[in-house]
Amino acid sequence: MLLLTLESSCDETSAAVVRDGRQILSNIIASQVDVHARYGGVVPELASRRHIQAISVVIEEALEKAGVGLGDIEGIAVTRGPGLVGALLVGLSTAKALALALDIPLVGVHHMEGHILAPLMEQEIDFPYLALAVSGGHTHLYQVDGIGRYRILGGTLDDAAGEAFDKVAKLLGLGYPGGAVIDRLAAEGDPQALTFPRPLLHRDDFDFSFSGIKTALLYHVRAQAAPLEGQPLRDVAASFQQAVIDVLCSKTLRAARQLDLQRIVVAGGVACNRGLRLQMNAMAADEGRQVFFPSPALCQDNAAMLAVSGDAFLRQGRCSGPELNALAHWPLDQTEPDQG
Ligand code: KG4
Ligand code: ZN
Repeated sequence: MLLLTLESSCDETSAAVVRDGRQILSNIIASQVDVHARYGGVVPELASRRHIQAISVVIEEALEKAGVGLGDIEGIAVTRGPGLVGALLVGLSTAKALALALDIPLVGVHHMEGHILAPLMEQEIDFPYLALAVSGGHTHLYQVDGIGRYRILGGTLDDAAGEAFDKVAKLLGLGYPGGAVIDRLAAEGDPQALTFPRPLLHRDDFDFSFSGIKTALLYHVRAQAAPLEGQPLRDVAASFQQAVIDVLCSKTLRAARQLDLQRIVVAGGVACNRGLRLQMNAMAADEGRQVFFPSPALCQDNAAMLAVSGDAFLRQGRCSGPELNALAHWPLDQTEPDQG
């Protein structure tokens, strides 16, 4: 089955053409980073407007790159939520119009479901597995028992990990988004230079908190006579990143032990982080567990990742009608009922 998939939940407009839920023929991503950078974060109204300008262009590009026409498309999967409602509506309305005009089935997919199933497009991974989803909007641990079968184990009580990276980058004058910049600086800094807190590690649950690390860093920056630069800046970046990585890895491995899960997937934009990849791989290997990271193009927001569950749901006849609505908040374990 040849699917067209559309993603517009935040600040990337993306369209992909995917065969049988696995073979990516194209995956076009139009980033809006230039629009939002000067505000230090995503401005919802600007995001919606940019999606409107970009959506037809990315669809045309995706079809052209895949070497197919609209008439060849057999189904459409689109991000239904969670995300910015105005942004989601652009993808949803386009998907509904196309499905109606082409008389093909449509299904609404959960954005985080796309992220945590993305590595299945590149490698075989048996269920069940533990998934750590780390992005700008989410930090969650899930047990994945199959496509459409998820259990929420825990999540952040305040900032998402990516959000913490972005806020800290802003504090340090490094621009937006900040994850990749901090990753680069951290590689040349001393992760032991400063001791930032490791929040909630003492608690035996799978929740996270990152705002305390950010506040500790803010106090450190305020105590300096001049803006940080050079090696001291690299050391702060490395120490901050290390605190986030320690928390993510410890909680993930603890969940894997308690639930006796041998396989771990780490997905979402923060899964691009080199320090996180190294430490998670090392800690899991010590316990004989396997870790799977999607390649960077499938870690960031993209439409192709929606095809894994989109394809499976459409084959099961789980289609949505023209009344399909956008959901700003949508717990991943409530994806089954009501596609309306
Ligand atoms: O999944 P994603 O593309 O979009 C959301 O759904 O949020 O994730 C974007 C987030 C941003 O917060 C960005 O700073 C972070 O992922 N990020 C990174 C890295 N690359 C992107 N964080 C840490 N290290 C990186 N290398
Ligand atoms: Zn995302």
